Order: sequence, then structure tokens, then C-alpha cells
Amino acid sequence: PKRVLSGIQPTGTLHLGNYFGAVEKWKHLQDKADGDVILSIVDLHSITFPQVPQHVLLGWVLGSLTTMARLYHFPQYKEKSESLKDIPLGLFVYPVLQAADILLYKSTHVPVGEDQVQHLHLAQHLVHAFNNKYGVTFPIPEYLVEAQSGAGRIKSLKEPGRKMSKSHPDQKSRIEITDSPDEIRSKIKKALTDFTSEVEYDPENRPGVSNLIDIHSLATNKNRTDIVREAAGLDTGQYKLVVAEAVIAKLAPIRAELMKLLDSKEYLDNVLAEGSAKAETIAAKTWEEVSRKIGFDDRH
Ligand code: TYM
Repeated sequence: PKRVLSGIQPTGTLHLGNYFGAVEKWKHLQDKADGDVILSIVDLHSITFPQVPQHVLLGWVLGSLTTMARLYHFPQYKEKSESLKDIPLGLFVYPVLQAADILLYKSTHVPVGEDQVQHLHLAQHLVHAFNNKYGVTFPIPEYLVEAQSGAGRIKSLKEPGRKMSKSHPDQKSRIEITDSPDEIRSKIKKALTDFTSEVEYDPENRPGVSNLIDIHSLATNKNRTDIVREAAGLDTGQYKLVVAEAVIAKLAPIRAELMKLLDSKEYLDNVLAEGSAKAETIAAKTWEEVSRKIGFDDRH
């Protein structure tokens, strides 16, 4: 059976990268109702309250099936550890916990942004390692990344060589889905472009304006060719105003719905409680199978 799983860290506010790269795709998959869809707020990854011990248990098992050499090369680890003098062990083993999130639900499809692809390769590697050692237990999880449209890699408005990121200290590097129209206008006006005034799509040489074209295209469902054609005669400064209005229009209903939901605490608590009860049933069943295959229950 098809089972879609994905997750997001609970820190900070969703930005356009999260939205186009993952959340909008989650919505489509959920609406399609083709198999189970499990969407998680990965609180263990940012250390809050461990409500799901099976994630940690399976993470530990998987940790003994991979090597430190493999984990050293992960981009998230490299990027975040660069600025730290003392690197927490948790940051290093994070991708193993993520693999446990995926395997615990025997997930078959994982919709994520491009920055997660290497983590998904680790999850696939761990499926092979576990299945070889203990017998076939997990399906190979396939990642679903939106490469063609650019949705899988929305860039920072300030450093278009890097991804738009929740944790970057510069607020102006990202558009959050709660930003007001004025904030959106101001951030897009100040987005870094280059010294050529023409609007053209060339991500290699002109990453700034190309990122704006991707965002514009995702916000309006227009293709890049039409967008560039319609922008003929505008300079990048004028074009930014067009992009800003498109983003404002796209986010308006999302922001309104979000505000409404934030007022219905009881409803949200219910969604979370029902969701975690369903997830817990699956997680407990998988962990029971895993511990039996490893031989843990022989000791009882
Ligand atoms: P997180 O919380 O950093 O991001 C959530 C989702 O948003 C995507 N994303 C982007 N997509 C396009 N452009 C961007 N600039 C951009 N920035 C973020 C991410 O790729 C992600 O899909 N490790 C995960 C959370 C996680 C998880 C999992 C995901 C934990 N366990 C199991 C899938 C399955 C993370 O840190 O995502």
C-alpha cells in the first residue's frame, strides 16, 4: 500500500520555500487521498517533548547500521556545524532519526524539498542494511521532489546562491506566509538581483531574478516563458513590483485561513490528538515487529 510521510520542524514560521517545496504538495497528496498521508511536526528533531519513544528506539537501531564517515557529509550538518565551536551529537545523528521517522511508518513516498534528498538516500541505504541483516521489513522510500518548477529549491532573497531558510538571522532573506502585504513588497523590492536590467530566466548566471521568476510562476501557475514574455520592457525594479503583487495575492487566502485556525485552539488540539493516536498505532506495530526480528523479545 502507498503511504506518504513527511515532516517539518516546529521552529519559526513557514516561508515560501517550505510552502512551495513541501506544504503545497502535501495538500495535493492529501486531497488526492491515494493511500495514507502522515504529516508530522518533528518535535524530537528540535528537542521538545518526546511523545513517541519508538522514533528514538528505531533511531538507535539504525545508528548501528551506518557509519560516522557517511554522516559527516550531510549538508545540514556541515552548514550548521560550521559556526559552532562545540557540535552537539544530536546535530550529527539527526539524519538517522529522520530515517527512523520514515521507516517507522513503512513509508513509501516522502514529499520534500531538494535539500532533503541526501537524507532520503540515507533512509534508503538503511532500509537495505536492515532488510539484509534482519529480513525484509521496510519498503524503499521514494522521495518526491519538485525539480522542474523550481519549487524544490526556493532561494534566499539576499543570497540567491543559498536556499531560503527559516533559521537565517536576516528576516529579509525570506518571505513568511504570515507577512503582511507591506512586508512582502518591501522584502521583494530589496531582493538581491544584479546589474542587468532585463528580466530573463538564467539560474546559472542570474540566480536572483531567476528565483523571482520561479516564485512568480509558482504563485500564479503561469509558466516561465509566458512570464518573461509579459515582463518584456520592464526592468528588474519594475518587475519586482509585479512579483510582489502575485505573492500577496497567493498568500492572502492562506494567511486568512491560518489566522482563523489560530483562533480555534480546540480544533487544532483535536487534529493533533487524533493524528498522534493514529501514528502511535502504526509506530507501535512496527517497533514490535522490529524488536522481534532483532531478537529483543527473547529475553522476556
Ligand atoms: P525543514 O523543517 O527544514 O523543512 C520542511 C520542508 O520544507 C522544505 N524546504 C524547502 N523547499 C524548497 N525550498 C526551500 N528553500 C526550502 N526550505 C525548506 C524541506 O525540504 C522540507 O521538505 N529534516 C526535515 C524534517 C523531517 C522530515 C522527516 C522530513 C524530519 N523527519 C521525515 C521528511 C520525512 C527538515 O529539517 O525539514
